[in-house]
Amino acid sequence: MRKTLTIFTTAIAAFFSFTAYAQDPMDHKQHMQHMAAAGSDTRQQVNFPPEMRQHTLTNMRDHLEALSGILSSMSAGKFAKAAQVASERLGMDSPSAEGCKSEETSGKPQMSKPMNMDHQMSQFMPEGMRNIGLAMHQAASDFAVEANKAGKSGNPKLALAALSKVAQQCVACHASYKVQ
Ligand code: HEC
Repeated sequence: MRKTLTIFTTAIAAFFSFTAYAQDPMDHKQHMQHMAAAGSDTRQQVNFPPEMRQHTLTNMRDHLEALSGILSSMSAGKFAKAAQVASERLGMDSPSAEGCKSEETSGKPQMSKPMNMDHQMSQFMPEGMRNIGLAMHQAASDFAVEANKAGKSGNPKLALAALSKVAQQCVACHASYKVQ
C-alpha cells in the first residue's frame, strides 16, 4: 500500500510539474531572453564613435516616442495619422533608415552628397544588426500600408498584427546588441 502511495504521489508531482511547464506563458525564446536579462549579458558590444553612439540613442528615444504616438493614434481610431507617423519616423524612407542601408540598398551614388551621421552608421554596424534594423524599417513601412487600409475598412486587425512585427524587431535587436 505504502509503495503504491509513493508511486501515486510521484506520478501526481510529475503531472503537476509537467502542466506547470506546459502552461508557462512565455515561449522558449522569450524565456531565454528573460534569463539573459536577469543574469549574464550575452549581447554583442558594438563600438561606435562617441557622437555616433549619442546619435543612435537619440534616434532610439525618437523610435519609442513614435511607437507610443502610433499606439495612441491606433487606439483613437486615427489610422491614417498612425500610418503617417510610421512612415515619417520609422519607415524605409525615414532619415533613421539611412543608417541601416548599405551603399547598394540605398540606391544612391556614393559621392552624391557628403556623408551624414546616419549614412556613416551603416559602416560601423555588424551586418546582423543592420539587417534587423532594415527589417524594423521595412516592417514600419508595411504597417503604414495596413494602417491606411484600416482607415478605409475601419478594421485595424491586420494593422495591429503588422505593428507587432515592428515591435518584434525592436526586441530582437535589443536582445543581441549594445553600444555602451
Ligand atoms: C538594429 C538594432 C535596433 C533596433 C531595430 C532598435 N533598437 Fe533601440 N537600441 C539599440 C541599441 C544597440 C541600443 C543601446 C542599448 C545599449 O547599449 O545598452 C538601443 C537603445 C534603445 C533605447 C534607449 C535609449 C537611451 O537613451 O538609452 C530605446 C528607448 C530604444 N532603443 C527604443 C527602440 C524602439 C522603440 C525600437 C523599435 C521601434 C528600437 N529601439 C529598435 C538598437 C536597436
